[in-house]
Amino acid sequence: LQTSPKDRSLAGLDLYFYQGFWFKSRVLKAVISFQEHLRPFDSDVIIATVPKCGTTWLKALTFSVLCRNQFASDENHPLLTFGPHQLVRFLEYDLYYNNPSPDLENDCVYRPRIFSTHVPYSFLPTSIKDSGCKIVFACRNPMDMFISLWFFQNNIIVENAVPLSLDEAFDKFCHGIYEFGPFFDQVLGYWKACQENPDKILFLQYEDLKEDINSHIRNLAVFLGVPFTEEEEEQGVVEEIAKICSFESLKEVEMNKKGMHASGIPNSVFFRKAKVGDWSNYLTPSMVERLEKLIQEKLGDSGLTLKLTC
Ligand code: A3P
Repeated sequence: LQTSPKDRSLAGLDLYFYQGFWFKSRVLKAVISFQEHLRPFDSDVIIATVPKCGTTWLKALTFSVLCRNQFASDENHPLLTFGPHQLVRFLEYDLYYNNPSPDLENDCVYRPRIFSTHVPYSFLPTSIKDSGCKIVFACRNPMDMFISLWFFQNNIIVENAVPLSLDEAFDKFCHGIYEFGPFFDQVLGYWKACQENPDKILFLQYEDLKEDINSHIRNLAVFLGVPFTEEEEEQGVVEEIAKICSFESLKEVEMNKKGMHASGIPNSVFFRKAKVGDWSNYLTPSMVERLEKLIQEKLGDSGLTLKLTC
């Protein structure tokens, strides 16, 4: 494995630069395992996200849309008992983390199978790119993403590591140094792929979901080939999914309050404020200016616009 150079980044995690992106070494090993071994079904769905951009929410939504006929009623909805990260597992943090060739058949109880990943588009194996499986991607404006990441990393701080100050973390973020960074390269990878193949990749932004979740649930269902029937619309299924997957509902579920993710991270850390524009409470005017310049420089002629506020 060729990696270079090494950086002690947020929360003292060792990161390695590999093919244009930053990884933890153990996670990179898992990525290489699934690149080699994953044999997706055409029916599989991959949730690909930039960290801290709504992965937990998107897992809940995608699961609820796709598996909506597999439980008897809303009272039996699996999200009332299990966390979104248990129902939809990460390829690199869960399934391939300890095992280069996991038994995916028995691991996934519901069908179709839904997997999740934070890897950049260039790291997705050709087996995913060439198969019929669909990819749902989500990003968020980098200011809120950065603040969310800073809180998250300092919450899961490893023993003896010193938390990074906002200034230090921000500087590293602007240089792209955090797990799966740089932000703009990751976002642009999926953006370009989506422009080329919109039937395969759905490109979502957290701010749009916050603005009108019901329309996005409908679009997601159409994209995944399971549109809501008239009867379902009359029964209010869309609104019910929005409610079960809402921040307010999910964060009160016992498993999300007290449970642990397989990696040892408390589930509660995935639920903080869920606000658009919270960055304005933390970033200084010079930080905002630096990020605005970066946004302009990196996304300038891409056709992609990120929403900094609602
Ligand atoms: P904040 O830190 O800004 O509050 P991820 O799931 O990719 O790790 O992203 C975590 C971010 O999504 C956190 O943002 C978290 O509060 C927010 N979040 C978690 N569940 C959510 C939900 N159901 N609806 C909206 N936002 C949610």
